[in-house]
Amino acid sequence: MRVIGTGSARPAKVVTNAMLEGMLDTSDEWIRERTGIVERRVISSERLEELAIEAAKRAIEDAGVSPADIDYIICSNVVNEYVTPALSCIVQGAVGAKCACVDVNAACSGFIYALDMADDRIKSGKAKTVLVLAAEEPTRMVDWSDRSMCVLFGDGAGAVVVTEGDELFVSRLTTKSMLDCLYYRRRLEPTPYVETEEISGPMYMNGREVFKTAVLSSSRDISHILKEAGLTPSDIKYYVLHQANMRIVDAIANYLKLDMSHFPHNVEYSGNTSSASVPLLLDTLSREGKLQRGDKILMSAFGAGFTTGACIVEWAK
Ligand code: ACO
Repeated sequence: MRVIGTGSARPAKVVTNAMLEGMLDTSDEWIRERTGIVERRVISSERLEELAIEAAKRAIEDAGVSPADIDYIICSNVVNEYVTPALSCIVQGAVGAKCACVDVNAACSGFIYALDMADDRIKSGKAKTVLVLAAEEPTRMVDWSDRSMCVLFGDGAGAVVVTEGDELFVSRLTTKSMLDCLYYRRRLEPTPYVETEEISGPMYMNGREVFKTAVLSSSRDISHILKEAGLTPSDIKYYVLHQANMRIVDAIANYLKLDMSHFPHNVEYSGNTSSASVPLLLDTLSREGKLQRGDKILMSAFGAGFTTGACIVEWAK
């Protein structure tokens, strides 16, 4: 499998730490020190499906393929206004593709799960060209009066077009059922029959527990796939890590004993955009001309579940 195009889209509304200081008992200093975040983009006048469509169109244009050439669309998404149909179905119509579509929900690791599915689809001969995207609005899951949660998140969409190729692709996906440290539950429509109590409320996260689990699991996944690919940490040009918290990126860089030039980041301007964070950062790197043919890129993410995903791709654009 090889990546032949990237695209992304972000909401217009910028919410700075200073703006949050005006509405919450928080400070720019606290947010920067604990997370690295300076500002985030937040859905306001646009809808998530519009961002997903924009990111998809940009990736298709960058790939130089016709929408008719796309054999499958996989979209990673945790939440949006439509429970059904899937976001991928909405994107398909808007970009003019005709293929089968499916959404996946592996929380913040979802983009890597979707890439892995695309690789399987291509390897099995069932598809030649796949549009893989991630579109997320975590700012719609949190309580905006809770300073410990709303300061962390931002919204956005990122996409790639992948096609058949001999380039290296190594991946590792893991899941460990952990329901109590990170979840978001919504009450469904009432019926005359439901007898169980339904829990509804904003997203809950035990930040410390997630922090520890994230550093340990990402470091373990990275070591695992480096070994499987026969590579050393310094063979990787860029580690495109889930942009949840700059301290997590720093901890993984320390673990790998590499300098920060291998760890591009945009969490300071995007906040945590859930599964969209990896393709958003990848698109920025590609458009800034920082990726050359043959470069090895390692992506790694973690999220609710607890899910983790990591992969190494060889750049071939
Ligand atoms: N401003 C000021 N003070 C705050 C704020 C805020 N925005 N938020 C919390 N505090 C206070 C707390 O109330 C607490 O005060 P206390 O000591 O008087 O009780 C103090 O700051 C410390 O709070 P902690 O939660 O212990 O702070 P911590 O250093 O653990 O940082 C954070 C919190 C940033 C959430 C960190 O735990 C973290 O990054 N965890 C990982 C989160 C993550 O990666 N999530 C992504 C995966 S899931 C996903 O992507 C959907």
